[in-house]
Amino acid sequence: MKKYLVIGNPIEHSLSPKLHNHWIKKNNLDATYDKKLLEQDEIEKMILNVRKEKIHGLNVTVPFKKTVIPFLDELSDEARNSQSVNTIYKVKNKVIGDNTDIDGFKFALEKSNQTIKNKQAFILGAGGVVPSIIIALKKMQISKICLSNRTKLKALEIKKNFPDIEVIEWGQISKFDMIINATSIGLNDNEKIEINYKNISQNRFFYDVIYNPKETNFLKKAKEFGAETENGQMMFVYQAQKAFFIWHNILPEVDNETLKLLNG
Ligand code: ATR
Repeated sequence: MKKYLVIGNPIEHSLSPKLHNHWIKKNNLDATYDKKLLEQDEIEKMILNVRKEKIHGLNVTVPFKKTVIPFLDELSDEARNSQSVNTIYKVKNKVIGDNTDIDGFKFALEKSNQTIKNKQAFILGAGGVVPSIIIALKKMQISKICLSNRTKLKALEIKKNFPDIEVIEWGQISKFDMIINATSIGLNDNEKIEINYKNISQNRFFYDVIYNPKETNFLKKAKEFGAETENGQMMFVYQAQKAFFIWHNILPEVDNETLKLLNG
């Protein structure tokens, strides 16, 4: 039986096991997928388990997507360009780090019927997921990306790898067609993004990487004032779908049953 894990800290909330085990069962595979809480000093040993084929694949989540990199033999182009790894596997004696968040975001937006080509995006936040979002938007031929983060230095660090993005002060708003919340504001109810929703929502697209809660205050307010909105759920589903394909060479189906699992 092949063994797969998602590693992170915290990890209790992860829905990846539900999704992968559903697809494993549907495709009659002899495999299991579990979650494991890790500390940073346990990462090396975990990668050794992949090397020894005790573990056949890993998903990596917060806060290890970058810190796992030194223990890997090779990175895919997307993992290297984003400096972010969420999927690990072994081929020909090499442990490889890949990034399926980029295509996860891209497929989610493509399915959403939003036009990205030649549009302007405004990203709030500069955490680990932001380089993946930038790469995906560039693949979709966005014309301009503006970035704002409470800690400006972190936004400027990202700009070093993507010189054509613009960085503006936290609290300012750029011109945009699409605004993306990539901060953790909205995970709980005490923090809110202070923007004038009334003035900026109409005919705009508001995207939140958060999918639990399903509708953050950011999306709720924007919808109220006429915006189209989407949460991060389909990005999550499509990153998982691509990881499944990498490991099992099967593209699992994303149907109503799959989505019901996540919403139930
Ligand atoms: P990751 O682990 O994915 O890298 P992170 O670095 O914790 O996540 O990123 C969280 C993001 O939410 C950051 O952009 C953070 O801003 P800072 O870089 O200034 O910390 C942002 N964030 C979290 N709480 C915030 C708040 N109350 N106001 C503004 N930004 C906030």
